[in-house]
Amino acid sequence: MSNEQGLYTSPKEDSFRTDRQIKLEAIRTGKFVWEGQNDLEAIRQRSFEEWQKEVIRRRDSRREIGEIPEVQKINFNGKYAPTLALLGDVHAGGDCNYEMFGATVELIKEHPHVKAVLMGDLVDAFFWNQALQGDMLNHKEQIHYMQSALDAMDGEIAAAFKGNHERWAERTGVSPLYFKWIEKYGTPYFEGKGVLQVNFPKTVYNMEGSHRFPGHSMYNDNHPQMREANFGQQGLDIYVSAHTHKKSYHTQYANVAGDRIQQHFVTVGAFKGHDGYGSDKGYDPFKDDQLGAVFLTLDPDQKSVDVDMSLEQVYQRLGV
Ligand SMILES: [Fe+2]
Ligand SMILES: [Fe+2]
Repeated sequence: MSNEQGLYTSPKEDSFRTDRQIKLEAIRTGKFVWEGQNDLEAIRQRSFEEWQKEVIRRRDSRREIGEIPEVQKINFNGKYAPTLALLGDVHAGGDCNYEMFGATVELIKEHPHVKAVLMGDLVDAFFWNQALQGDMLNHKEQIHYMQSALDAMDGEIAAAFKGNHERWAERTGVSPLYFKWIEKYGTPYFEGKGVLQVNFPKTVYNMEGSHRFPGHSMYNDNHPQMREANFGQQGLDIYVSAHTHKKSYHTQYANVAGDRIQQHFVTVGAFKGHDGYGSDKGYDPFKDDQLGAVFLTLDPDQKSVDVDMSLEQVYQRLGV
């Protein structure tokens, strides 16, 4: 007699059949009944009321660990005019102007008045084959390279906006560049759009940023920012996005509640001038003067923004 559980189908000793034998026989003859089915259906049966409780609990818990405030603040002591290096679309891993990126990191790291605002797409992170073949660093190497740049700028990064290429990097998990940003860097971090409020004892600048804003115009490289100023957050001082790689600047005046304000619209340049995607689309390769960060120098005493479109220009302003 077997030690397995089973049953005798007649008084005879050899009529003993194990559970397994009975089940296999039932499967063979098509008589198999899945005994757990009713239990499982009962477990899955939730009323709308029960589901409501569950989804609200889960949403609140997710918000608790992941919510990002729409307005975040940084404070300066007002003793100097900081220069914000609006730095994005590096696309590390691609055919980039790494020398220009290196010089920008160096300026941020070494000059006490220059702070970085990261605008996203720091890594290329392409995941489809033709584009991947244009990358000279694999995804891991891209992240290592960019993390070393962030480490080099540690303490000099005023804020960061995540780009869509970092979202691609998240296909395999979290984006390590931004994981626990606030704990690591202690400065504002945004996914999507957000207002970075730059405070001085005597004045405040409201700068809205996003890796990208909605809208596109073939005639105006700052269309997304100007659209945002009309149909998104109105009456702010500075609007900046990246993503289109079309470095540009425009300024205009607006009357807000009786006050005249000067508004500044910026699209930052990329550090990658061209790739297979651009060739396929028929885009002109960018020349070096179309690449790189845009620099905003903020007067700490009265609202006044000086804009430099290249490293050479900002070197002149800072006398370096
Ligand atoms: Fe992008
Ligand atoms: Fe980009």
